[in-house]
Amino acid sequence: MKDALKVFSGNANPVLAQKICDHLGIPVAPVEIGRFSNDNQFVQIQENVRERDVFVIQPFTEPVSEHIMELLIMLDAMRSASAKRITAVIPYYSYARSDKKDAPRISIAGRLIADLIQTAGANRVLTMDLHADQVHGFFNIPVDHLTAIPTIAKHFKAGYDLSNMVAVATDAGGAKRVGRFSERMNIPMAIIDKRRVSDTKVKQGFVVGEVKGRDAVIFEDEIATGGTLVATINTLVQAGAHSVHAGAVHPVLCGPAIDRLREAAVESVVVTNTCHIPEQKNLDKLTCLSIAPLFAEAIKRIHTGESVGALFT
Ligand code: R5P
Repeated sequence: MKDALKVFSGNANPVLAQKICDHLGIPVAPVEIGRFSNDNQFVQIQENVRERDVFVIQPFTEPVSEHIMELLIMLDAMRSASAKRITAVIPYYSYARSDKKDAPRISIAGRLIADLIQTAGANRVLTMDLHADQVHGFFNIPVDHLTAIPTIAKHFKAGYDLSNMVAVATDAGGAKRVGRFSERMNIPMAIIDKRRVSDTKVKQGFVVGEVKGRDAVIFEDEIATGGTLVATINTLVQAGAHSVHAGAVHPVLCGPAIDRLREAAVESVVVTNTCHIPEQKNLDKLTCLSIAPLFAEAIKRIHTGESVGALFT
């Protein structure tokens, strides 16, 4: 297996790629990524990939457009170099948020990026906790859609008293995800009525479900600017929650997110390492769980033709 399987990384999260390869017991395969003097990107694979099963790891983190372009050129280079099968490993697919035409004259860019990934040469996609499950359908190639719900649930189960806990969805769109989380935790759930006012601001209203006097765990796919999370924390405090914790898969943590979280009345925030968190964004109340073992196992199973779904039963 070791020679037939090759794992490459773009520049978005090389730390995660290294951890995944450590679990697989193989080195990250060498690639040169650079830039021509006219600002065009340049990629050269530094070893033979002919007839190999190739995986390219690149979450869509800031600078998102640079990282997407880098992935596309890497995929194209793999195809030109006669790789047998190419899997784009995208732990965080940021454009999943652009999944519908909810305003006139806009693009469903999540679909456009899926088309580009396929055109560039990907034969498969491996990703995690898409903003909406149906984004999976934007791809005409097989997609393995992993989830960090068991990883985050295990963290709370191990360190907290669950007897008074309630899982909270920040809006109706997240209710299904939180339903799965609350089932794993074996606790009830509540939903908050949310309206997005702008990219960085949200407005919340009624709480559906019992939160008064309870330990609330907000569960989210991502924390971007932190606007949704902080509004939810405030709503729960006003509704009389005893304590508030949060779990989110993707720590995008852009713009004012860290300052907002630092000030917020939340006791702990648990995320995963799909997106790299630089040192200056670390907070005492922020815990980062590694999903590298899960990605490594999925890559191994895709390579050997075993079930990936069985990982979650
Ligand atoms: C929205 O529907 C998502 O589930 C997240 O709540 C949202 O992406 C978080 O964005 P922000 O942190 O900027 O409010």
